[in-house]
Order: sequence, then structure tokens, then C-alpha cells
Amino acid sequence: MRRAGGAGGRAVGGSLRAAPGAAPLLALSQVSAASVERLQTGIGELDRVLGGGLVPGSLVLLGGSPGIGKSTLTNMALGNLAGTGCKTLYVSGEESAEQVRLRAERLSPNALEVPVLAETDLDAVLDAIATHAPAVCVVDSVQTLRCSELSGAPGSVGQVREVAAQIMELAKQRQIAVVLVGHVTKDGALAGPRVLEHLVDCVLQFEGERERPYRELRALKNRFGSTNEAGLFEMRQGGLVEVLDASARFVAEATRAPGSVVLAAMEGSRPLLVEVQALVADSELEQPRRVVSGLDRNRLALVLAILGRHGGVGVGGRDVFVNVVGGVRVDEPGVDLAIALAVASAARGVALRGSPCGCFGELGLTGELRWVGHPERRLAEAARHGLEGIVAPAGSGEGAHEAATLREALSAVFPTSRTRPASLAA
Ligand code: TYD
Ligand code: MG
Repeated sequence: MRRAGGAGGRAVGGSLRAAPGAAPLLALSQVSAASVERLQTGIGELDRVLGGGLVPGSLVLLGGSPGIGKSTLTNMALGNLAGTGCKTLYVSGEESAEQVRLRAERLSPNALEVPVLAETDLDAVLDAIATHAPAVCVVDSVQTLRCSELSGAPGSVGQVREVAAQIMELAKQRQIAVVLVGHVTKDGALAGPRVLEHLVDCVLQFEGERERPYRELRALKNRFGSTNEAGLFEMRQGGLVEVLDASARFVAEATRAPGSVVLAAMEGSRPLLVEVQALVADSELEQPRRVVSGLDRNRLALVLAILGRHGGVGVGGRDVFVNVVGGVRVDEPGVDLAIALAVASAARGVALRGSPCGCFGELGLTGELRWVGHPERRLAEAARHGLEGIVAPAGSGEGAHEAATLREALSAVFPTSRTRPASLAA
């Protein structure tokens, strides 16, 4: 940093004179910001999560556990781009060119047009990128490349950092959009992609359960768009298919059995109806199980405490399982009420009134039901799929069955507002 020194930098006659040689400064309004042309991958959900497509010269990290579909997604995107005449390159450090071809055959004819380089030596990869000058390049995966100047094994923190840094330098120089694929274990522990988060422009996370067809793509960081967006896919024989009306599906599949409730959630700017299921069962363990999938475990603990203290529904020493159906993950406060109603319904063995019964709302520690964002969009989505009388916090608006407290919400959803049997007390 240079500081203006001597008289040259001082205010003279009320105005600042820059020291000779100092870099001129511009107000933000004078900075030219040409709108960037984005490269559409042709996969609507992916483009939306990216903020409108890939930005030339940007570095995107696509993380996810093995087998989730990262290679499939990137192969499909490159195929579509190649189909529009865009120059692409797929660097595979994991699979042989034959293996990549076999996958591409299942995807689309365009996927077979993508040039592939099966290579793990960083210098060879950089050479290929510099020579072929693609507009979009996928490196699958960043953990398999090796920089010969460093001693660590491929995938070690030092190697991953160096590989990413060198690729980034080239990408920025040549305005190449690069997608780095990285494996992350469930707890994000594996050395590798996490250390790159600060370096790249965009971090996408591909998640879901391997055994189930639904996959969710989220932006954890995005310098060129919102991090609230999420895209939903289904893994099929011919690759990943965008799930455009997920709400319709989840509502149709909702079981309406005791322990089931439909949550009107927000996935970024989009409303999504998902089924939340709970099971409360006698435990054989001293410390009963609290198992969640698609939710934060601490959230369940909190809701169980509120349910016991303010809702009169205790689960005591029984095991509690709560699952967001379809492998979707819900990370918003509006899920509290769904957890509470599903657990209460499961604990009582009674299906909720008007099942599938819909709800949303955050629970406060004193048992109050708190307002959450975009009630009108949630209610409209519910109405569109035939759900009426959504239980929601006060102030949510027309069409909602408003409740101020957890107790009011509970009495709204149980067929008779009888008091709980004593056997269910904590
Ligand atoms: P893959 O993209 O190789 O996962 P990742 O690169 O994240 O490790 O694909 C994962 C799984 O998807 C694989 O087990 C096979 C399955 N799959 C399909 O079901 N249909 C398809 O068309 C393709 C290409 C893969
Ligand atoms: Mg792969």
C-alpha cells in the first residue's frame, strides 16, 4: 500500500491532490461494469443456482459425496454447451476416457461431442487447457490431480490448493469458466474441497441420499448470484432430470398416516411443499435415539423440548426419528412447526386433521408461533396443490389457519381437542 507522503498528498485549498504516481481512484458509480455474458448450461436448475449461467473466467467448486451424480451433471452440462457450439473440455483424473464415454452414451448425443482428457498430472492438464483454449472446462476431480513440484499425495491439502491456484490463474488469464469437482464426505471432513472455498467464486453442493432418486443442488457461496437458490433433480436411467414441480409430487406421495405433515417451505425464492415424517418408538437404549434426515439435529432437540414444555407432548425416553421425505434438506426456521406436529401426531398415533395437513412457522422458546418470511408464497403454493387450512403463525394472511402458539396449532390439527393421555407425559 502506498501512502501519500509530504505536501503532495495534503489538502490544498480544500481539495486533495494525489502524490505523483499514485493510482487514480474512481467512485463506484464511475467504475464500468459491463454486464457479463453468461454461458447457459442448458440445465435450467443448474443455471438458476449459478445465478443465470456460468461466468467466463470464474471458478466454480462442485462438491458432493461420491456417487451423488457430480460427473453426470457436469457431463450433461458440457454436452449441452458443446451442442450450442461452445468449446468445452472434460478433464478426468478419476475415470478412463472409456468410462467417461460409457456414461456419456447414456446421457445425450451431444455429450459424446465433448473432448476428454484422462490425466492426473497438473502440468499436462494446464498444457491441454492452454492449447485447446476451451470456454468451459470441467476438472473431475480436483483431488486426483497432482502437482509434481509438491511432495504430498494427490488430494492432500497442499496439493489441492496448489492445483486449484494454478488452474485459477490460467482460467482468469484466458477467461475460461472452470468447474472443479470435489468429493466431500458427509461431515465435510475429507481434506480437500473445503480448503478451496475462499479461493473460488462459487461453491455448489450436490446432496441427497444415494439410494434415493432426488438430488438437491445448492449454492453455498456465489459471487455472481444469490446463495438462496436450490435446484432439484432426479437420477434416472438417462441421467439427471430436473424436477420442476416437486411440490405436486411430494404432496401426492404424502402418506397422510400418523406422523406425517406437509411443510410449506421456502427453497430460496421458491416455495416447496415437502412431507415431514416422524416416528416415535419405544427405545431399547439408555439414551434414546434422536435421528434426523434432511434437518438439523439441534433443531429437533429444541422442538422436542418446546413440545414437551409448552405443547404437553412428551416423548420421554422413546426414540424419535424425523425425516424430510425425498432426500430434500430443509434449512429454514419455518420447519419447526412441521417437526412439532409430525412428532405429536406420531406420539399420539393419530393422523392430523384433513391430512395431508399443511403447516409452517417457527417456534419460540416460550411456545409462541413466530412469523416466517414469504407466507403469501407458501400459502399460494399450498392452495395450488389443494391444501387448505394451512396452520401458520398469526399475520400470515388469507387462507391460513392462524395460530399464535404451539398449543393453538396442536388443537387445530387433532381431530378432537381432547387432552393427551397421561401415558404420553414426559
Ligand atoms: P456419478 O455422476 O458418477 O457420481 P459422482 O461423480 O458424484 O461420483 O453417478 C452416480 C450414480 O448415478 C452412479 O451410481 C450411477 C447413477 N447413474 C444413473 O442412475 N443414471 C445415469 O444415467 C447415470 C449416468 C448415472
Ligand atoms: Mg464422478
